Amino acid sequence: MREAALLSVRGLAAHFVTRAGTLRAVDGVDLDLASGEVLGLVGESGCGKTVLALSLMRLVEPPGRLVAGSITFDGNDVTAMDTRTITRLRGRGMGMIFQQPRTSLDPVIRIGNQIAEPLISHAGMSRAAAAREAIALLEAVGIPGAEAKARAYPHELSGGQAQRVMIAIALALKPRLLIADEPTTSLDVTVQAQILALLRERCRALGTALILVTHDIGVVAQLADRVAVMYAGRIVEQGPVGDIFAAPAHPYTQGLLQSAPVLGRRRERLAAIEGNIPDLSRPIPGCAFAPRCDHRPTMGERCDREMPPALAVTPAHAARCWRLATP
Ligand SMILES: Nc1ncnc2c1ncn2[C@@H]1O[C@H](COP(=O)(O)OP(=O)(O)O)[C@@H](O)[C@H]1O
Ligand SMILES: [Mg+2]
Repeated sequence: MREAALLSVRGLAAHFVTRAGTLRAVDGVDLDLASGEVLGLVGESGCGKTVLALSLMRLVEPPGRLVAGSITFDGNDVTAMDTRTITRLRGRGMGMIFQQPRTSLDPVIRIGNQIAEPLISHAGMSRAAAAREAIALLEAVGIPGAEAKARAYPHELSGGQAQRVMIAIALALKPRLLIADEPTTSLDVTVQAQILALLRERCRALGTALILVTHDIGVVAQLADRVAVMYAGRIVEQGPVGDIFAAPAHPYTQGLLQSAPVLGRRRERLAAIEGNIPDLSRPIPGCAFAPRCDHRPTMGERCDREMPPALAVTPAHAARCWRLATP
């Protein structure tokens, strides 16, 4: 049985409104996440993954703005929260880690103090207790010589260590949800797998749900319980990881899987999806993927005219493709 929803997103839209026009970065997203669940959010660069992640924490900055939809987290309406409540939520309820760990660390503060800070300000720990806890957290994220490393400055860490520290900070207050936006993209390939395994292990240990944002669908196969595929500001397919990999229903997901390098096997040439993502500053009346879709010629004009709704493949698996509506 599925656990009660921790996060429930309906019709969420985040637009950038400038003199040049309106860019629909997130345009009607529905998403559900259960407690402790790992969701892989995948899609090509520019599909709106980062803006969606920021929207969930209400961190989109002007000219960006949430223009529609609801975000329910742990039973509370995030879109209606005042500044104090949302600040507390970001501290204790939801954590986030980003692609560039170093830019999120303060270069002039020792890392032990950076980990201790939220424990003091949000959890009310004493300075001494927080310092001890910071060392324990460094050990938990696999930093050798944690006691000495706590006194180091960010520039003394490798990229992988910096991301481990970010994970320690983000999980220090045991949030119910962690959003990790391409957390390993800037790291060496060998380090990437270790960091992803660590993320999953720490989230499991704390019962923290994880939204793992990545442009690499291969990463999702090993880590996620469920997958949401994003294209042009919308979730075009969503379901359990096994179903999505065994029987992808949306042509875009099929394309992503065909262009993903097969693990442990080297392919000569990857079959990249032809064409580019559409210009999000123009309204798209139909399926945004239609211009790149192999099925479009046999499907007719409906694909260009009408946006397909999320259609069920199985009760837990849905995709926005008109092919699922044709008997
Ligand atoms: N601050 C911004 N101002 C204007 N447009 C933005 C801004 N941030 C993102 N966008 C646009 O929003 C769309 C989605 O971007 P993003 O969420 O970063 O994609 P992804 O994370 O999937 O690569 C892109 O077209 C991008 O150019
Ligand atoms: Mg991004």
